[in-house]
Amino acid sequence: MAAKVICIDLGTSMTRIWLSSRGNVFDEPTAIAIDSRTGKVAEIGYLASKAIGRSPYDIKVFDPVQAGVVADVELCVRFISQVFINLKLHRALRGSTVLASAPNQMTTVERDALLDVIKNLGARRIIIESSAKMAALGAGVDMSSPKGVLVLDIGGGISDCGAIALGDIAAARSAKVGGRSFDRAIERFAKNNKNLAIGPVTSEMAKMRIGSVDTGAENQFLEVSGRDVVTGLPSSAILSTAELRPILIPLAEEIADMTEEVLQDVKPELASDLVKSGVLVTGGGALIGGMKVFLEKELKMPIHLASDMPNGVMLGLKKAAEEYI
Ligand SMILES: Nc1ncnc2c1ncn2[C@@H]1O[C@H](COP(=O)(O)OP(=O)(O)OP(=O)(O)O)[C@@H](O)[C@H]1O
Ligand SMILES: [Mg+2]
Repeated sequence: MAAKVICIDLGTSMTRIWLSSRGNVFDEPTAIAIDSRTGKVAEIGYLASKAIGRSPYDIKVFDPVQAGVVADVELCVRFISQVFINLKLHRALRGSTVLASAPNQMTTVERDALLDVIKNLGARRIIIESSAKMAALGAGVDMSSPKGVLVLDIGGGISDCGAIALGDIAAARSAKVGGRSFDRAIERFAKNNKNLAIGPVTSEMAKMRIGSVDTGAENQFLEVSGRDVVTGLPSSAILSTAELRPILIPLAEEIADMTEEVLQDVKPELASDLVKSGVLVTGGGALIGGMKVFLEKELKMPIHLASDMPNGVMLGLKKAAEEYI
């Protein structure tokens, strides 16, 4: 392993950072709050995300990664730099080797934006690896096998599917659907059907507590608070698993369709092996209720959930850093 390796999984929802010298040092939301009076960073990570929808007038909270890719290079650089400053590790980046994960289907512009961020941090060497490949490595899959494996990473803003055989990616696709898409669908539902405006923190909580894409799931209820869209006054409403399901299922279908497209892209022999071995599913977005049952029904293939889904990609990055850098 090179002397100073830093692994970065800069996700839409969460950023995870691992240092060869320290281990895991950061696992918090990809959020940065800026004080618009001074232009200075007010908070990052959990503290910044807590301020969403609640921050004082002068503090603005930004999500610098959108749908799996860098949306604002400068804010991403400030965000990661601040992580290292807070940890009193700001020298760690100079001259380091940075290993970062990224979706398979990035445009050149999106890839350049990620490279820009890491270069600006002061890295000497940059390696970008596919999230799907890293997730497979992290789950201990034998990637050199000719039989291959299908990996699906359902993140916050993007879902990434790759067919991996003989150590490389035989076919891959990404769809800009992830955990946040479910949250937004719940926000739209509450607004249109309950006249209630709820924020992203509330919709995410509703998804985690009662959301399900399994038609056989128990019907649960949850009271959520927000603002009445007509009167503008604080109000609340009850949401149920059954009424949310029809708005969540089409999003899960998009993810299943993309996985099927990857199967269609590979050679027939590999496709038949992949169908037999099934799909390894990882990513925090896959934790929505009923995803395993839904994918099994939809894809008619065995679905294996990775043991630590939110950390699936980071586990692979760490392994790559230790084994071949
Ligand atoms: N228990 C849970 N139930 C449902 N969803 C969950 C749960 N825990 C986390 N999630 C969702 O997982 C998503 C984040 O997953 P992950 O950390 O893999 O995303 P990311 O890597 O930041 O995003 P991306 O890879 O898309 O850029 C969020 O939408 C979050 O709401
Ligand atoms: Mg991710």
